[in-house]
Amino acid sequence: MHVESWSPDSWQARTSVQQPVWPDAAELETVLKQLAGLPPLVFAGEARHLTDALGAAAFGKAFLLQAGDCAESFTDFSADSIRDKLKVILQMAVVLTYSSGVPVIKVGRIAGQFAKPRSSPTEEVDGATIEAFRGYMVNDDAPTSAARRPDPTRLLTAYHQSASTLNLLRAFTKGGFAGLAQVHSWNQDFVANSAEGQRYEVVAREIDRALRFMDACGIDPRTSEALREVDFYTSHEALILPYEESLTRRDSLTGDYYDCSAHLLWCGERTRQIDGAHLEFLSGIHNPVGCKIGPAVGTDEVVSLCEKLNPLRIPGKLTLISRMGAERVGELLPPLLEAVNAAGHPVVWVCDPMHGNTFAADNGRKTRHFDVILSEVEGFFAAHRRVGTWPGGIHVELTGDDVTECLGGAEEVLQDHLDLRYETACDPRLNAKQSLDLAFEVAQLLRS
Ligand code: PEP
Ligand code: CO
Repeated sequence: MHVESWSPDSWQARTSVQQPVWPDAAELETVLKQLAGLPPLVFAGEARHLTDALGAAAFGKAFLLQAGDCAESFTDFSADSIRDKLKVILQMAVVLTYSSGVPVIKVGRIAGQFAKPRSSPTEEVDGATIEAFRGYMVNDDAPTSAARRPDPTRLLTAYHQSASTLNLLRAFTKGGFAGLAQVHSWNQDFVANSAEGQRYEVVAREIDRALRFMDACGIDPRTSEALREVDFYTSHEALILPYEESLTRRDSLTGDYYDCSAHLLWCGERTRQIDGAHLEFLSGIHNPVGCKIGPAVGTDEVVSLCEKLNPLRIPGKLTLISRMGAERVGELLPPLLEAVNAAGHPVVWVCDPMHGNTFAADNGRKTRHFDVILSEVEGFFAAHRRVGTWPGGIHVELTGDDVTECLGGAEEVLQDHLDLRYETACDPRLNAKQSLDLAFEVAQLLRS
């Protein structure tokens, strides 16, 4: 499909921003050779399924829930944390499915989300200038210059951690752990045992009734495959291009190139230069791709992004993830929706209500307020209502753990609480209760 000149390494001729300077080029080459010989993490056919599923979301017939860590950690890595993250995403998905009446496509920011773009390449620590932390795939977050030295062997660790994470996700989602009846019973616990949950008793009861109705009709959630198994996809920001290139393989069935490091790859707000290396790379792979768009994006620019990333206008190929900030979404989003509509591009429109609403609390911790996050989602829905387009999904940073990183929620996290359990490797995440609370709120928006 693509112009003849694309190849997995054609990005190298373009300017690539946000790349670490690897101190030892020979060591990097050795690692990349090893990576290129390792098995793919995902199968191209799965990526095609995801494109098809997203194609429905482009036309108002499905909803995308993309969620997970801002940055996965090498140190805080365990079966329990993977399970709890999956659990909360599935719980959110059940609520959203019931309320929207359309399939909810579940995509984790997981099994590969190890690299971060930074606003400054260096930082000052005790009067010394050291390299910024760029995610565990590149360096360590300890504030010393030795820890911050980019280390290519971390690319291999990231690959192996992605493989074991994906293995557990596949086991959970296909092995019966994640069945509808089970997920619903977790939601019932949330409703019965939390301040947030009590407000959603009515919805939970309706879902319960729907399940009993199916049961009465002879559909047993424990044996019906559709209710017992879940399709769960992986995604991350395709930031460190040598890594992504090494995992890009030609599909033996179609002959097309797929980046087999994840099902969906996205381009960040800081790396989406139209002639830059990141868009060049993403324009040639056949996976579904995403692109973040912030307040600075123009209407012509957004149409150029569509042309570049989805020239054949394949539904589901391109997801645009807007992160405008709660205050400006109402003003900035509608013209973009109109421009893309007028250009005839099928796009899945997704709201990231996190990255435009980050601020420093009094103690210096980066945080976000639940009410402001919700307010951007509301502005996103309102913008789509106004233009007549479909609000295709949400993209959130969350964890299944009981952290205190984002403010607010029914069991209100206050500024004084931030230090109690502030565990993120990068941006502040919603905890499990705040995440479910958000899902029930979004569910109301989908119904009205
Ligand atoms: C992110 O998703 O963690 C991120 C850095 O987002 P953005 O590119 O939108 O700033
Ligand atoms: Co983030």
